[in-house]
Amino acid sequence: MNSFNTQIWPARGEYLARAAQFLKDGQLVVFPTETVYGLGANALDAAAVAQIFVAKGRPQDNPLICHISQIEQAHAIAHVSPAAQKLADAFWPGPLTMVLPKKEHVPNVVTAGLDTVGVRCPGHEGARQLIELAGCPIAAPSANLSGLPSPTRVAHAISDMNGRVPVILDGGDCLVGLESTVVSLAGPVPELLRPGGITLAMLEGVLGQVKVAQGVLNPLPKGAKAHSPGMLHRHYAPQNAHVTVLCGPDEAVLRRAGQIAAQEENIAFVAMHSLAARWQGQGGVDAGQDEAAYSARLFALLRDLDAAGYAHILCQGTGPDGMGLALMNRLLRSAGFDVEVLG
Ligand code: TXA
Ligand code: MG
Repeated sequence: MNSFNTQIWPARGEYLARAAQFLKDGQLVVFPTETVYGLGANALDAAAVAQIFVAKGRPQDNPLICHISQIEQAHAIAHVSPAAQKLADAFWPGPLTMVLPKKEHVPNVVTAGLDTVGVRCPGHEGARQLIELAGCPIAAPSANLSGLPSPTRVAHAISDMNGRVPVILDGGDCLVGLESTVVSLAGPVPELLRPGGITLAMLEGVLGQVKVAQGVLNPLPKGAKAHSPGMLHRHYAPQNAHVTVLCGPDEAVLRRAGQIAAQEENIAFVAMHSLAARWQGQGGVDAGQDEAAYSARLFALLRDLDAAGYAHILCQGTGPDGMGLALMNRLLRSAGFDVEVLG
């Protein structure tokens, strides 16, 4: 792999044009979006896209999302059905990826050989300007080393990608903090493959019924085929710390966390504001007032607590409604499905 003297620039003004030139030249650029930082390459340049997999250490069987700057650009890479058009009108620009039948010229390295392509028009203005200036769709996974939590702060993008890419654009903290909702419109019924900032209820409001893929809250049974290959891989786990998710009424979660804290050293307890305020022990972390605030902080908290040397991170689980579905989906994966459901 090439080693770079990475430039870190603000995601605005002339720096966007300079970064866009790197993309045009077939190089990689880390850029901010409203969900997480992305690791981008010109989606129509197979050799450039191939470098993404090297820089991330990503398995080749996991397809990439193509980022566009305007809704109309989707037609250049995918077949856009009337249902897809309705979703685009409702939620783009924003944290929604649609899996659509791909057009011929989208390279196989982008789609991992599938006949579909993930398309997203990001809500972050700097991201859209970068794509516009590059003049091509940008293929981009999250800018973490494969397996680690996605970077939602520029410091975390730098920690994973410094030296691996020529340019990192700093756009501050990501507002949503979890990766985009992925919905497939390529099959007979719309299917939610990965929950995110556009909730199931929001999708159903436009599409009517939406099927929820089997792996969204459960580990896939052995031998089952994931419609979204990304669901198969180990994900979002801190480097050293172990994560356990504690689900149930506040009282029960507090009691169980207290028991674990009495038996182990170096534990952190991450909970929403009302519960965190009641924690008497060490290592209490306030994850915010609601699921949206918790989601925005989760990946950054996991990285920071890991770096601070906590060995075991106990995270309060949430219900499956609204943003809770996406939050639980990521919590369960961060924990390798180590979850306790308490009465
Ligand atoms: O918010 C996001 O989506 C971020 C930012 C950078 O836009 N990107 C991101 O990319 O999370 P990545 O590569 O980490 O996750 C893409 C997910 C994977 O689970 C992948 O399997 C799925 O989308 N995916 C992409 N193309 C697909 C396709 N054609 N069919 C099914 N799943 C697809
Ligand atoms: Mg990712």
